[in-house]
Amino acid sequence: MIKRGDVVMLYFDSKRKFIVEVEPGSTLHTDMGVVELGELIGKDYGCRLKTHLGIEFVVVRPALWQVVYLGFKRKTQVLYPKDVGYMLLMSSISPGSRVVEAGVGSGFLTAFLASIVRPNGKVYAYDISPTYIKLATTNLKKANLIGYVCLKQKDITQGIDERDIDAVVLDMPTPWLVTEHAFNSLRNGGIFIAFVPTVNQLERTVLVLREKGFIEIEAVENIQRTYKVKKGETRPRNIVIAHTGYIIVAQKP
Ligand SMILES: C[S@@+](CC[C@H](N)C(=O)[O-])C[C@H]1O[C@@H](n2cnc3c(N)ncnc32)[C@H](O)[C@@H]1O
Repeated sequence: MIKRGDVVMLYFDSKRKFIVEVEPGSTLHTDMGVVELGELIGKDYGCRLKTHLGIEFVVVRPALWQVVYLGFKRKTQVLYPKDVGYMLLMSSISPGSRVVEAGVGSGFLTAFLASIVRPNGKVYAYDISPTYIKLATTNLKKANLIGYVCLKQKDITQGIDERDIDAVVLDMPTPWLVTEHAFNSLRNGGIFIAFVPTVNQLERTVLVLREKGFIEIEAVENIQRTYKVKKGETRPRNIVIAHTGYIIVAQKP
């Protein structure tokens, strides 16, 4: 049953879908009319909600990736699902893990990290910018994940406070300046991951990781194509995301 404060998805078609918080008196204005969100309280997921023009949305309990990519505000570059997926896999984190992350930015990656380490793990999430800490706080509250994150307004190149950490995950401009702090912070077998948009940053980071004694150092680029599926005419879509960045993975021996 839908409760006050629930975050739900109103779905019409793949282009018209909205992540909204159910509050009495709040409305959503769309190109298909206005809906009263309070009407949903006490109804079941899967019900229909009519706009004042009589057009119906189906009400769906959203997946986390829908809450993040449709519902989060973004003021920074954010990581794409194809990169997030690989980073989560390689980080090897699970419920109970303790993870250090920087920078938080809009909190997209933070949300996925938090969803894995809950209920008893923690993401220690660093960002130098108070604006982005505030933005990420709002976004993580929307996904009900703020309780698993400790947000820190701090320059991670100046040091990492936590010890015995399972993974250090970076999406900030100078990961090579964090390698020594990461080495000191990680437990034996812990994973270092950095996402960088240029090969210059990739090379610099890998060379420093080797110098610091990390093992299993790999650099990868994930390329993904999506498909337009139509009977007898199925083929890759014309438009692709040509470039996002590179992922560097290493392990503390
Ligand atoms: C591209 S954004 C991260 C986006 C984030 N991964 C997401 O998916 O929403 C990069 C962030 O790194 C932060 N940053 C840059 N240098 C930093 C540093 N030395 N320590 C901590 N954060 C830093 C910036 O303020 C910015 O918010």
